[in-house]
Amino acid sequence: MTQSDILLKHLSTVFDPELGANIVELGMVKDVQHIDKTVTIKLALTIADCPMRNQIETEINRKLKLLENVETVEIAITAMDQKDRTAVMEKAREKARENAQPTNVDPRTRVIAIGSGKGGVGKSTLSANIALGLAKKGFQTGLLDADIWGFSIPRLLGITGRIEANSDKKMIPHEIGNLKVISTGLITSDEDTALMWRGLMLSKALEQFLTDVEWGDLDYLIIDLPPGTGDIQMALSRLLPQAELIVVTTPQLMAQKVATRVADMAKRSFIPLLGVIENMSYFESDTGEKYNIFGEGGGEALSDKFGIPLLGKVPISENTNNVADSGTPLIDQNNSVTKVEIEKLINNIAIQLPPIIDETCTGRLAKVFEELSNQ
Ligand SMILES: Nc1ncnc2c1ncn2[C@@H]1O[C@H](COP(=O)(O)OP(=O)(O)O)[C@@H](O)[C@H]1O
Ligand SMILES: [Mg+2]
Repeated sequence: MTQSDILLKHLSTVFDPELGANIVELGMVKDVQHIDKTVTIKLALTIADCPMRNQIETEINRKLKLLENVETVEIAITAMDQKDRTAVMEKAREKARENAQPTNVDPRTRVIAIGSGKGGVGKSTLSANIALGLAKKGFQTGLLDADIWGFSIPRLLGITGRIEANSDKKMIPHEIGNLKVISTGLITSDEDTALMWRGLMLSKALEQFLTDVEWGDLDYLIIDLPPGTGDIQMALSRLLPQAELIVVTTPQLMAQKVATRVADMAKRSFIPLLGVIENMSYFESDTGEKYNIFGEGGGEALSDKFGIPLLGKVPISENTNNVADSGTPLIDQNNSVTKVEIEKLINNIAIQLPPIIDETCTGRLAKVFEELSNQ
């Protein structure tokens, strides 16, 4: 792959929210140059002064700066000519017509996969708490437990029900307020279905959860990944090109080495790295003393290595094991340092990756259609 292919691949994860397609397939990216650490892009918009412009520019900046060798992004905006505009509207109509997104997840949904090289670092705990926290902020949020065999989300959220299918044979997620949850733990009620799921490859199971679930309009979809690397990440980048990865590590440097493998893998499958969370960072006593029980520096090291933000450091909670494992998420527990830090972490995520807001510039579309019909 050439450098310009790589840039285009990353740019194709930027969606024009209104036209429902990515800016590369819409033919908006006219030229990309990469000289030293600066990327210069010529971006053609249907109408140069569209309010959507900001959102698209910010998104391009954010995506490209995730690349190691990119420091500055310069975007030159031009307005499309009549021919380009016709083509772009044709493309947008085609998209709307085929309506055959590979999955049932809206391309505007922010997708955050939570991964780590190994088990036991707190992926599921963090996925559950982050998803719940985003939902509490008022965002429509989905939580997909992609740890098909080692599912733990139902237990962490204290859900015991079984989910059902609607008349379209789509699974209806379990709902807690604004949060929609899917997990094999909510399906496998009997041995036969359990066996069927076991027979599925992990990537197939993920595909089912993305295509056969009635997710509705989500702002965020949080995916709790199984430990390890490989299959499932490749499937993820194929099925949800907008997916980004948060890597969870514990503070010891050994753990950070394992996490590096996941981050490398993500880079190879073109999943942008959103950031690092260091979990079980320290223990804070009632009197405010901090103890680095599991060492220190793992989160910083990983964030430096990949040039991505350290989104948060979550301290060890005294009673996680009994309380969280019996269904009271950390953010619902009494005021503890852990709860406070998780809330900061969630704010940070929402700042780094704000939901895509449909500032519908209907005016813009109307104008384009008007021009088309006047031809
Ligand atoms: N910040 C924390 N403080 C204390 N215990 C934690 C913390 N994060 C996770 N745990 C505990 O560690 C164990 C493993 O967490 P889990 O989320 O299941 O990890 P993973 O999904 O990475 O395998 C669980 O018992 C969980 O309650
Ligand atoms: Mg887990």
